[in-house]
Amino acid sequence: MRSEARVDLDAVRHNVAALASRAAGGAQVMAVVKADGYGHGLVPCARAAVAGGAAWLGVAFLEEALAVRAAGIDVPLLAWLYAPGEDLRPAVSAGVDLGVYDPAELTAAAAAARATGVPARVQLKADTGLSRGGAQPADWAGLCEEAAKAEAEGSVKVTGLWSHFAFADGGADHPTNSRQTVVFREALEVAERAGLRPEVRHLANSAATLTAPDTHFDLVRPGVAVYGLSPVADSPQSFGLRPAMSLRSTVALTKRVPAGAGVSYLHRYVTERETTLALVPLGYADGVPRNATNTAQVLLAGSRRTIAGTVCMDQFVLDVGEDAVATGDEVLLFGPGDEGEPTAQDWAEALGTINYEIVTRVGARVPRTYVGGTS
Ligand SMILES: Cc1ncc(COP(=O)(O)O)c(C=O)c1O
Repeated sequence: MRSEARVDLDAVRHNVAALASRAAGGAQVMAVVKADGYGHGLVPCARAAVAGGAAWLGVAFLEEALAVRAAGIDVPLLAWLYAPGEDLRPAVSAGVDLGVYDPAELTAAAAAARATGVPARVQLKADTGLSRGGAQPADWAGLCEEAAKAEAEGSVKVTGLWSHFAFADGGADHPTNSRQTVVFREALEVAERAGLRPEVRHLANSAATLTAPDTHFDLVRPGVAVYGLSPVADSPQSFGLRPAMSLRSTVALTKRVPAGAGVSYLHRYVTERETTLALVPLGYADGVPRNATNTAQVLLAGSRRTIAGTVCMDQFVLDVGEDAVATGDEVLLFGPGDEGEPTAQDWAEALGTINYEIVTRVGARVPRTYVGGTS
């Protein structure tokens, strides 16, 4: 195979079990599998997460939820982002919980319930300080009262109350997170006064799941940690997590070039001496960011090597000097680090981004292959 993103489903299963063992006070795990399982593959990772003990799954969009259901996975499932006019009926029929941020969304969910004859399962989201989705504290009581009314009419069932932290990567110990937890507790009291008795209340992302047990409530909602990446400075291994993805390619061509050869577009790398160049058939269309040019490292023939010159759409070049490198040799861009290869975290640090972006951006052109689990 020319290139592959190899995903270890046993690692996903293990990571979910590790997260479940950290969940405080009997909280269950909602494994977040949006964005194609953070680039790892939606359905295989959803299955592996359930096998690891995830009681719930979480996605952003309705079609992600329907793909989970179409695969025959019937655990409770929350989808939290859609736009006005989207057809909610298939999700309501499939028993997908809908995130609800305002009365208009509540009305749309109730209409879908009437159209399908199935009560809509809705989870009201409070904006506790991220200022993204969810109802502001000033609007929260009104939303809860509307929801209680719709529940009394039988069109919706309020299954959850939830919110999301502003500080995810970088740590759960930021004072904003404790303020948000206070605001969330107040929101729960308001909902209770409105007569709502949800199945689950949840707030914690990966960072909070790993480090802030007072935020676990009934459910933790980790994403990046499911895939074995750490959202904080500590290594994943220090939390007992195993990175699940390794991104691999193959040397497609080697050739000798003289000193002074300009390499790749714009000649941003020029050989200092006669040397061997190796061509790797992966580029920015495959998720190798163009700003990895002359920056990010890969493992080839036992050594880490920095990308030489501009990353192109489909390919990049390595300068391997006098080393014995042949066409067909494996190039390991990132992985768990066991073989000395860089990790997704190393790539993120080299490129000034977060490990989330490195794995989710691996392009659709790169086949996902699976080891372990039952994909
Ligand atoms: C609403 C929501 N909950 C949970 C998560 C999981 O976050 P993390 O990957 O930091 O654990 C995300 C991811 O962005 C999210 O948007």
